[in-house]
Amino acid sequence: MAWARVCLWAVCACALRVALATVYFQEEFLDGERWRNRWVPSTNDSRLGHFRLSSGKFYGHKEKDKGLQTTQNGRFYAISARFPPFSNKGRTLVLQYTVKHEQKMDCGGGYVKVFPAGLDQRTLGTKSPYYIMFGPDICGYDLMKVHVILQFKNEYHENKKSIKCKVDGFTHLYTLILRPDLSYEVKIDGQTIELGSIEYDWQLTSLRKAERRPRESWDSPGDWEKHFLDAGTGKPGDWNSELDGDWPGPMLQKPPYQDGLKPEGIDQDIWLHEKMRSTSYLTQYDLSEFENIGAIGLELWQVRSGTIFDNFLLTDDEEYAESFGKATWGQTKGPEKEMDDILTKEEVTRAREEEEEELLAGGFNEPQRFFQRFHRFHQHKEL
Ligand SMILES: *[C@@H]1O[C@H](CO)[C@@H](O)[C@H](O)[C@H]1NC(C)=O
Repeated sequence: MAWARVCLWAVCACALRVALATVYFQEEFLDGERWRNRWVPSTNDSRLGHFRLSSGKFYGHKEKDKGLQTTQNGRFYAISARFPPFSNKGRTLVLQYTVKHEQKMDCGGGYVKVFPAGLDQRTLGTKSPYYIMFGPDICGYDLMKVHVILQFKNEYHENKKSIKCKVDGFTHLYTLILRPDLSYEVKIDGQTIELGSIEYDWQLTSLRKAERRPRESWDSPGDWEKHFLDAGTGKPGDWNSELDGDWPGPMLQKPPYQDGLKPEGIDQDIWLHEKMRSTSYLTQYDLSEFENIGAIGLELWQVRSGTIFDNFLLTDDEEYAESFGKATWGQTKGPEKEMDDILTKEEVTRAREEEEEELLAGGFNEPQRFFQRFHRFHQHKEL
């Protein structure tokens, strides 16, 4: 009886969760070629590479694992899909997708970008402004990282902590969570790889701003510091832009009471200015808050093509994202590996058989063996 009640409760709780989740965008490419109605390729440059729908050489499920695959080597790619615009202000934002470098990526992007609703999909390119860039980027042995780049006031800010990405040929699930309390989390294959505070893990020196104390406290001892204005800009000689923020400008020369400044006695060259709380950050944070999220896309370069992108998700619900990850990547990872193992074994067997044939042929007739090998080499190249 108690057991049944627990079960019932669990089912209800789960249904409620899913019911509460807001899914802004979800794409599994399950309706054949109709994805072309939802995804707009950029035509900004005629040399942009083409995408096709494919589950690749090995997969867990031939149909369900179909995703956008890059098809041409040494190309830029640019494609995007729209959804009704939303703001993540005060809400969690989860960005998730799967990526599979079955060609064994040597150099190229495997990341996604989230764009403002104003994106012009037809001209999408390197210069198109984005809100978020997230996912793996590989180039040789030097670059194997997961980017988490956030736009703030038209500047892009990269995470300071370096996050290593997967470099094998299998499908991997990448998840980025941005929460309203300014915490973030990066997961790969459902495992937390990095987490922390957006305040501390991004290059935010340009966002740092001193905070003024409330007026009531102005005249308590220790609130005022002496500053000697230099004649030109009115900027105190000891003004430290790093700690004090940007110098607000010459307005400070206007006596007698300016914001946080007052002249000391009759000596107009000596000003007092309110002590700053130099280590404080903006309290009203808008980094990681995006007003008008309206598109998701791929805008990247690949030396060797073949990467498959699938199972895109934007939601405000971490648990929904987790269950969607389990239902997609979770189902495919095992069978995909098994299929790859079988194909690899078959290849090894075939190679061994060919070698044996060659040896047999070579034992009797050297020139013939050379010819066969030469012939096969050329057939291979034509493929
Ligand atoms: C479109 O292509 C041109 C020429 O390749 C390039 O200069 C421009 O930056 C591209 N536009 C965007 C939005 O990236």
